[in-house]
Amino acid sequence: MIKKIWILTLFPEFFEPLLKCGIAGSALRGERSDENFKFEVHCINIRDYSTTKYKSVDDSPFGGGPGMVMRADILRDALMKGVVEQGGYKSKEDLRVIYTSPRGIVWDNLVARNFGMNVLSDPQRDIVFICGRYEGIDERFLENYVDEFYSIGDFVLTGGELAVMVMLDSAVRFVPGILGNKLSSEADSFEDGMIEFPQYTKPREFEGTEVPQVLMDGHHKKIEEWQKSEKIRLTRKHRPDLLK
Ligand code: ADE
Repeated sequence: MIKKIWILTLFPEFFEPLLKCGIAGSALRGERSDENFKFEVHCINIRDYSTTKYKSVDDSPFGGGPGMVMRADILRDALMKGVVEQGGYKSKEDLRVIYTSPRGIVWDNLVARNFGMNVLSDPQRDIVFICGRYEGIDERFLENYVDEFYSIGDFVLTGGELAVMVMLDSAVRFVPGILGNKLSSEADSFEDGMIEFPQYTKPREFEGTEVPQVLMDGHHKKIEEWQKSEKIRLTRKHRPDLLK
């Protein structure tokens, strides 16, 4: 099956490097999964659905205040014409519409894993990300068309594009069949509530520091014990909040 990810944005070019580079790029280009499951990413420029003379997509907020608000009618048309109609869906209910915003569920490794395993891998519904810009989006579009909200942290980005990229990059690793070496995602930071143990490679000596001897002895049980104690040491040093 082909799992389509639609991205509604004013800046489709933001996504070019993500789609071009690295593991996430090849996964999202559909080159990393098996025959039964492939991603296809489509960026839709919201501006193409503007009906105004100068192709604007926003206007000043009723009630006053700074900044501009993205119009509900233009976003609706981008979603319904650009995705539902163009994608050949029966209705909007065939899609999971996601808006990235500070009001959303806060993203962390657990949320990312659940998203990768159950949302990105869900054969039933394709995904639409709405990337907001300016001061926000008319609330009526969010109420009528958005199913889920996610925040990548308690800070404000100038737009949702980076949040969508963070979500895709960190969740795609959990889609079954995407990461060649499953053990590598299991050893990654946060998988057991701690950060990763330190890693070393050639050269054996760097600026006067040797690779820890235990890693050179080939004694697997001792190496495992060392890695475990190093995890605790580094977590206590860098992220003591995780040990509580
Ligand atoms: N858009 C603006 N700020 C954001 C945040 N913190 N997370 C997700 N989307 C956002």
